[in-house]
Amino acid sequence: MQTAYTKEELRSMLAPLRARGPVVLVPTMGALHEGHASLLRQARRLAGAEGTVVASIFLNPVQFDNAGDLAAYPQTPRQDLHVCESCGVDLVFMPTPGHMYSKDRSMAMEETCLSTVLCGASRPGHFAGVCLVVCKLFNLVQPTDAIFGKKDYQQLAILRRMVRDLDIPITLHGAEIVREADGLALSSRNVRLSPEHRAAAPAIRRSLLAARAAYAAGDAPGDICAAVKATLSAIPGVRVDYAELVDAATLGPISDENRLALLALAAWFGEVRLIDNIELSRS
Ligand code: PAF
Repeated sequence: MQTAYTKEELRSMLAPLRARGPVVLVPTMGALHEGHASLLRQARRLAGAEGTVVASIFLNPVQFDNAGDLAAYPQTPRQDLHVCESCGVDLVFMPTPGHMYSKDRSMAMEETCLSTVLCGASRPGHFAGVCLVVCKLFNLVQPTDAIFGKKDYQQLAILRRMVRDLDIPITLHGAEIVREADGLALSSRNVRLSPEHRAAAPAIRRSLLAARAAYAAGDAPGDICAAVKATLSAIPGVRVDYAELVDAATLGPISDENRLALLALAAWFGEVRLIDNIELSRS
């Protein structure tokens, strides 16, 4: 496995690998866990024996709307390199923020529809920062394919829109959410939960499963969301940011009940903001 710390190193390491087969990119912010490992293994399968798997590890300051959240974000670079190696990654790109962004950067990326709701409504500028860094990574790596987890469902939908609207010739793949045995979705933020909140957090998954059953039984979206909010808000120290039932493709209100729906939620467990979601259908 090779490690590139600069854009120049990345370009020269990638040049001889391109002709061999697909180049599959897995962008990450580090603090890699089993969820990331499953994305990396999926990338390895997609690239095949001849292709190249590239993982980027870059804690992107531009997508944090809260300085405290950025400062508290875990960073485990040595362990991350081990995870990459064990998942068959060929090349890791690990730039510094100063190297990624010029001091006088004046370009921004704006998605004006899907990013106005859900997390976009409570995290101003977050998705603009995600689009900016992912667009830069796409330009630098020029992969054939890229893989993103469905835990960040809205992020994936926005990046699909970016690729479509900007004619970026890259195929995006969504990977299923990886969970702990008790149902909590894996997240780099889970290590910051207090023991009490860690014990309580599987209630998120239980409330989503109950929502799925209620939606299939024909319950009204408003009632389903209210039940999820009530369950989670009853936990001491928990504040629900949002729990919304939307069209899974448009992230807007459900206009056609035959289409796939999505219940997405974000909740603060103390100082830690957790997100999760579940796809729903009426049958
Ligand atoms: O999902 C993440 O970890 C980040 O938002 C991403 C896609 C790596 C961009 O920084």
